[in-house]
Parts: sequence; C-alpha cells; structure tokens
Amino acid sequence: MEKIVIEGGYPLFGEVEINGMKNAALPIILASILTGDKCVIEHLPAISDVTLALEILRSMGAGVRMINRTTVEIDTSYIKGGNAPYDLVSKMRGSTYLIGAELGRFGAARVGWPGGCDFGVRPIDQHIKGFEALGAKVDIENGYIVANAPEGLRGNSVYFDCVTVGATINVMIAAVLAPGQTVIDNAAREPHIVDLANFLNTCGAKITGAGTGVIRITGVERLHGCTYTIIPDMIEAGTYMAAVAAAGGRIRITNVIPKHLEIISAKLEEMGAEIEEYDDTIIIGRTQELRRANIKTLPYPGFPTDMHPQMSAVLCCAQGTSIVSEGIWENRFRYVDELHKMGAEITVDGRTATIFGVERLTGAPVRAVDLRAGAAMIIAALAAEGRTEISGIGSIERGYDDIVGKLQRLGAHIKKMYCSDENELLDAN
Ligand code: EPZ
Repeated sequence: MEKIVIEGGYPLFGEVEINGMKNAALPIILASILTGDKCVIEHLPAISDVTLALEILRSMGAGVRMINRTTVEIDTSYIKGGNAPYDLVSKMRGSTYLIGAELGRFGAARVGWPGGCDFGVRPIDQHIKGFEALGAKVDIENGYIVANAPEGLRGNSVYFDCVTVGATINVMIAAVLAPGQTVIDNAAREPHIVDLANFLNTCGAKITGAGTGVIRITGVERLHGCTYTIIPDMIEAGTYMAAVAAAGGRIRITNVIPKHLEIISAKLEEMGAEIEEYDDTIIIGRTQELRRANIKTLPYPGFPTDMHPQMSAVLCCAQGTSIVSEGIWENRFRYVDELHKMGAEITVDGRTATIFGVERLTGAPVRAVDLRAGAAMIIAALAAEGRTEISGIGSIERGYDDIVGKLQRLGAHIKKMYCSDENELLDAN
C-alpha cells in the first residue's frame, strides 16, 4: 500500500505550473467518439482518470497513441459501441459521457453504471430526461444504462430540473449530430462546458451559448477530427492557492485563467491571503494570521464544490468560527472525521459544517476518502505540526498530476512511500 508522508510546518515558496483540467479532459476524450476520425488532444493531465478514459476507448477499438506525457492521438474510425468493459466504466463518474457519445454516433448505447466519488446519491435522471427529449428510449438493465433511438435522435428542447454539469455535457454530446435544433435550458455554465463546446465546434459542430444558462445546438451531418488544447485546471490551481494559504509562504502559479479563479481568489483574500493577478499567472502569499470566512458552494460562477474540502482544511486554523455550506452534494463531509484526527474542531449538521479555528493542527495517520478530501488532507498536513501519513492516495492520483513532486519543488517536506512486506515505510521514489 502506498502513502503520502508529510512533515508539516514548512511554508511554500517557488513556482508551480498547472496542468489541463480533469473535468474538461474526460468529456473531450469520450466525445472524440463522435468524430470517427483522428483527434490530437494536448495539455492532458497525467492522472489515472485520463488513463482510464483512454483505456476504455482502446477497449472499444479506438487507436490511442501517447505522443508525449500530455498529448494523445485518438483514432475512433473503427470504434464499436456497447462494449466498454463494466469494470473500467464503473471506476469513474466521467464514464457517463459514453452514453451521449454512443447515442450520438451509433443511435444506441449500452454503458455500465458509472462510479465516482461517494457524496451520497448521484442520480442520472436529468441525463435520461435529456436523451428521451432527443427521441431515445432509456432503460436500466442488469446494471447497464441501455439507450436506443431506432428512428435516430432529433433536436429538441430540454429544461433541466436542476443545474447539472454531467447532464449538460451528456446532452450536448448526444445532440451535436441530431438533425434539427436542440435547446438546453437551465444548463450548467462551468468553464469545462465551454471547453467541450469549443472542442466540438472545432470538430465542425454548431453550438452557441455554452457558458450561459441556454445552450443552442444545430445538428450537423458529421464531425471531423481536430487538434485541441485543454484549458488549465481551475481546481488544481485553487488547491495550490489553498495550500499556501494554509502553510504560509508565497508562490507563483503559472498557466492559469485568472477569470476562472475569481471567486476562489476573493475568498482567500477575505481570509488574509495577498493575491496578484497577471495574464496567465497568479502570485499568492500569506504572511498574516488567517481570518475566518463563510463559504456556500453553488454551480459556477458560484463557489466551486470541488474546492470545499480544501477550504475547510485552511479554515481549521483561521481565527474565529467559519461556516461551510455544501449546496451541490448530499454529503461531501466524509473528510471531516479525518480532520478531527488532526485536532480540528468541526461540527456537521446536514449540509453545513461549523469550523471553530484552533491554534494548530497536529500530524496524524489519515485517509483520503475521495479525490478532493485527499487534497484537503495534504493541505491540513502541510500546516500541521509533526508527521502525517495519508493512505488511500489512489483517490488523489485520480485528479492531481504529480502533486507530491510539485509540492516538493515548493519546499514542502512531502514524500510518497510504500509499505514493505515487513510493514515498514520505504521511499517510493
Ligand atoms: C461533475 O460531477 C464533476 N465531475 C464533479 O467533480 C463536480 O463536483 C460536479 O460536476 C459539480 O460541479 C466530473 O466532471 C467528472 P452534477 P457531476 O451532474 O456531473 C444532481 C471532482 O472532484 N443531479 O453537476 O456528477 C446531483 O445529485 C468531481 O472533480 C441530479 O439530481 O455533477 C448533484 O446534487 C467530484 N440528477 C447536482 O445535480 C442528474 O441527473 C450536481 O450534479 C444529475 C445530477
């Protein structure tokens, strides 16, 4: 078993470059199925979810060739539908996009039930509502989502009951080859939805309104391959911003889009961080005492839920009492018990956590219960006094490219280690 081991108490200094965005890369990789051509995707993060998405395509008959660490050529000319291995598909939420891609390309889809972080119930009723609006019949059979459109899909309007990133992405993917006009109302507005629309338009789709609450799609006959560069990962950038807010120091974060980080920057400044913004770079430092703050997560441009655990870790040592309300997920607080082991004083009532700032946290053996919870453990450990051992680091590696190496280069005392057969911890590098 591998662990991340951190000696806390060292401020961060230096420069870190942000990778491509996980939650943009996954839909773009799977949407390449629609082209039946060669696509070159650049600026991919080297993370296990991307490796998994490429493995799924390969298993369906796509040609997948890594040109370098962050660039892949995908050829979906000969891909078949309905055959993605259940054990691969069930490992991540992003697999849901296979349904829209297979429906859009083949008029039929058969995809195993998707996995992903456990936040309680993660329904797909809005995805199904969208596919049915386009003329598909959708059934759940033996753990598979089976969709068929015998007469082919046709453009239509769909009004989502709630703002959902996944369903907005899935219906956009399904609709680009559907004859006629599709209007997605109450659409999610995240930057990765705009990135997907830009990728699809580069392949010949006709999508307008991405990034607003109303997305319009005019169906086209076919798409062609393209070369496309993924946008920087705003959550990865926000995670390093939270890390320096917790540990102290001053770092330069390059390859970011400051506009995507506005609400994160504003909240961290409220908490006492000093931030300078440039075209594609942010410099963030924290020298003064951390101040309390309240956070409520909402769909973009609201405060991103995927930054919630990381910010809670920072607030553990802020002066005063903070309130963190989770507006998106039923239960995203499984990380709280792990922070309790480090001396955090947090109470949770439903979707609201009350964080009573403490003088300091102390290192402890903790678990990464999911992707962003794992990032929160790292952030808390960087600020804590003493040694923290984090297990379950596979969750972290799903979404963070070389987080240990990047933090080492910023001066953190962090290592990846593995347990030998004699149960001793050895350096993994
Ligand atoms: C995406 O999940 C992200 N995952 C999540 O990031 C992120 O937390 C979430 O969007 C919100 O921004 C990927 O992009 C792979 P949703 P998704 O559909 O698409 C309800 C990370 O850390 N809902 O926007 O599953 C749902 O229950 C991960 O990178 C329905 O009710 O999220 C939730 O309350 C974790 N019916 C809300 O909408 C549906 O059919 C938002 O879900 C779909 C969703």
